Amino acid sequence: MDVMEAITKRRSIRQYNADRPIDDETVNMILEAAIAAPSAGNGQSWHFEVVRDASIKHKLATEAGHQHFLEQAPVTIVVCTDLERAEKGYGLRGRNTYSLQETAAAIQNMLLVVTSLGLGACWVGAFDEGCAAEILDLPKNFRPIAMIPIGEPAEPANRVPVRKKISDVVTFK
Ligand SMILES: Cc1cc2nc3c(=O)[nH]c(=O)nc-3n(C[C@H](O)[C@H](O)[C@H](O)COP(=O)(O)O)c2cc1C
Repeated sequence: MDVMEAITKRRSIRQYNADRPIDDETVNMILEAAIAAPSAGNGQSWHFEVVRDASIKHKLATEAGHQHFLEQAPVTIVVCTDLERAEKGYGLRGRNTYSLQETAAAIQNMLLVVTSLGLGACWVGAFDEGCAAEILDLPKNFRPIAMIPIGEPAEPANRVPVRKKISDVVTFK
């Protein structure tokens, strides 16, 4: 699958075949894609929590406004940023801005490789960061940015949400 095909085929998937596991090799490939993303000064502030444990997934899903597809997925990867690492190179710009840009780039890489593998995922951002950090027992300097449930899709991915037109969102100068 070429890049543009993966970009256009990618959809948010919210139903997974819970009985179809995702093996470690696949998780590793997804993580390799994540850490291949660009980062400010190659600072790589990201950190990834790979969650397979059912009770942890249940707590995360419940806390994320009962988005229970998070626990239906055989694996959920919580993408975090290490705020200390982010701040080291670029001060507050690194801590407040680059940390988010870097993790977002890593997440999109993950979603694209997931799509290319015929799997499904969803970028989940609606959760309380403090609660998630507590559930995962994260160090104080780790900020959880997004949860990415990954699994074999149990729903067709043919619904394409309407996008604004280029002319609505672009200014050419
Ligand atoms: C920052 C961010 C946060 C999101 N949070 C959630 C979420 O908490 N739950 C959810 O079901 N989808 C979430 N999504 C997925 C969006 O709803 C989805 O990308 C959008 O509706 C477009 O659909 P598509 O991904 O299939 O193109 C989030 C996406 C982004 C980028």
